[in-house]
Amino acid sequence: MNILGIETSCDETAAAVVVDGKQVRSNIINSQVAKHQPFGGVVPEIASRAHVETLPDVIHCALEQAGLGWEDLDALAVTRGPGLASSLLIGLCAAKALALRLRLPVVGINHLQAHLYSIFLGEEAPECETLGSAIILLVSGGHTCLVRMNQDRTFRLLGQTLDDAAGEALDKGATLLGLGYPGGPAIEKAAAGGAVDKRLFPQASTFKSGVLAGGLDRKLCFSFSGLKTALRYYLERHPDVVHNGRLKDVSASYQEAVFNSLVARVACAVEKEGDIQMLACVGGVACNKRLRNKLQDLANGLGIPLALARPEYCTDNAAMVAALADSRPIGHAAGPDAMDVVPRLSLMDD
Ligand code: KG4
Ligand code: ZN
Repeated sequence: MNILGIETSCDETAAAVVVDGKQVRSNIINSQVAKHQPFGGVVPEIASRAHVETLPDVIHCALEQAGLGWEDLDALAVTRGPGLASSLLIGLCAAKALALRLRLPVVGINHLQAHLYSIFLGEEAPECETLGSAIILLVSGGHTCLVRMNQDRTFRLLGQTLDDAAGEALDKGATLLGLGYPGGPAIEKAAAGGAVDKRLFPQASTFKSGVLAGGLDRKLCFSFSGLKTALRYYLERHPDVVHNGRLKDVSASYQEAVFNSLVARVACAVEKEGDIQMLACVGGVACNKRLRNKLQDLANGLGIPLALARPEYCTDNAAMVAALADSRPIGHAAGPDAMDVVPRLSLMDD
């Protein structure tokens, strides 16, 4: 099945054609980073305007690069949440218009669930049969979740952040360090060659066991706001960090503290579940080489494989949106009129 995916939930305008949920024929991503950079974060009004301006070209480009015409498409898939309402609307309206014109079904996709499906993209991706039961760490700019996925690709939320997301902690940390936006890649670059000092920031302090509202185990939940505050206080006490050559050490130490917190909970989830056969990490923060290495070390220690999507499938993209749609009963997709955006959609909502 040839599915055209459309993704406009935040500041990337993306379209992709994916065949049978795995083979990526095109994956076009128009990043708006340069437009938001002067403001130090995503400005919703600028984002939606940029989606309007670039989405038609991005879609044409995706079809052209896939070597397909409109008539070759079997279905459309579009992110309907979570995300910025005004940005989501642009993709949804485009998908609805195309669905009506081309008489194709359109599948509304949960962006967080689409991130989980990024591990199935590309030739090197694990096959369903080899997946077994997996722990997937989803780390993006707005979300940090621990998920158990079973062989049949059903999944369950095990833990999530109680305050900031990991990407948000890096983005806010980078702002405090004067490294600019987006913070994750900026901190990774600044941290290169830096020495990690574990005494600078709180290390992976895990919560005591206990059940939270929604049935989540407290031990598998994350908190990053204290870490960010610790960095702020550290910089207040050492205002000369940026100029005295210690920026790389402080960046490396802060980044390491964020990742230690992530890796500790992945290890905890593996132990708690007891039958885990694979680890995986998805979302923008999964591009980070240090995090990838730390997870690889954990997987090696556990003697199980680690599935990591290629970086272009980790950050926001439409290939993962199309891949998830392929697993849905397309014939029963709701008509375009019935679909709306849901900016606060959560991981387990369809
Ligand atoms: O998944 P994503 O593209 O968008 C959301 O759905 O939020 O994730 C964006 C997040 C940002 O916080 C960004 O700083 C982070 O991913 N990120 C990184 C790297 N590349 C992107 N964090 C650490 N290292 C990177 N190389
Ligand atoms: Zn995302």
